[in-house]
Amino acid sequence: MKLKFKFALASTVLAFGLGAQAAPILIKYSHVVADVTPKGQAALKFKELVEKRMAGKVEVQVFPNSQLFGDGKEMDALLLGDVQIIAPSLAKFGKYAKQLQIFDLPFLFDDIHAVDRFQASPEGQGLLKSMTKKGIMGFGYLHNGMKQLSSNTPLSMPSDAKGLKFRIQASDVLEAQFKAVGGNPQKLAFAEVYQSLQTGVVDGTENPWSNIYSKKFHEVQKFIMDSNHGVLDYMVIGNAKWWAGLPPDIQKGLSEAMAESIKFGNQVAFDEDAAFRAKVIADKTSTVMPLTQANRAAWRTAMQPVWKKFEGEIGKDLIAAALKANQ
Ligand code: LMR
Repeated sequence: MKLKFKFALASTVLAFGLGAQAAPILIKYSHVVADVTPKGQAALKFKELVEKRMAGKVEVQVFPNSQLFGDGKEMDALLLGDVQIIAPSLAKFGKYAKQLQIFDLPFLFDDIHAVDRFQASPEGQGLLKSMTKKGIMGFGYLHNGMKQLSSNTPLSMPSDAKGLKFRIQASDVLEAQFKAVGGNPQKLAFAEVYQSLQTGVVDGTENPWSNIYSKKFHEVQKFIMDSNHGVLDYMVIGNAKWWAGLPPDIQKGLSEAMAESIKFGNQVAFDEDAAFRAKVIADKTSTVMPLTQANRAAWRTAMQPVWKKFEGEIGKDLIAAALKANQ
């Protein structure tokens, strides 16, 4: 009897102990692109690292392809706590921090390496904190690549864009950029781009090679210019209040995994941009056209007035710091 009682007590203690064990912290990481892209790869790397190192403590669910939230909804979802990590394009933050519009200025950066240098500079790092007051914390920058202009008619000179409808991300700078060449820009969510191109809602668009290939934009665009006229990169962000409520050891582990996953994604961006371009060419559904130095200069001249228009909101010094990164 006595023994039986002891056994019952021990099992109760054991059951209680097990029951009391906290459930793992669930992190939802949502984005709008395909798994094969730099952002898709970075998100999966983050999940892999966290679940290996913090098994039982943290679980990460990755939702690609606008499965959980498309753009337009994902920022609200982050602020409401429906998702913990997202990585919107830098073009989508204008509403939250005007300075971040710098990344959309056409022909500001010579190439992705200049973008990388600017992001690593004190000015670039400072911008990661530009949305703190809005409850958004920046973990770091993540590359995708330089954008290419596409359309159903060749875009050799700026005058070729006249009257054409272009899909743009939700950015006032990009709106001004296409207006500067006589185009009609339309802000559309990423998930709507393919269909809008296919049905002729818009005639053209701009995106880096990994997005063009993985979303098959080259199947519904006849010409893609090797324009490299601007950058499409990301800021990986989290809800600041959620982050502040995490135990310090979890924060440390997550910060390390995040830094490594970003490094990994950036390497994918550097290494695979040319390969995605080659795949687009190999599919033969679209003609990839070089932009001569002279024509590129004409595009630059036509679009550059946009810098002046946004200089007040962005800041002259910040633009100067970005230009320094080209050297
Ligand atoms: C776009 O809307 O074109 C991009 O921002 C999508 C993305 O996340 O790369």
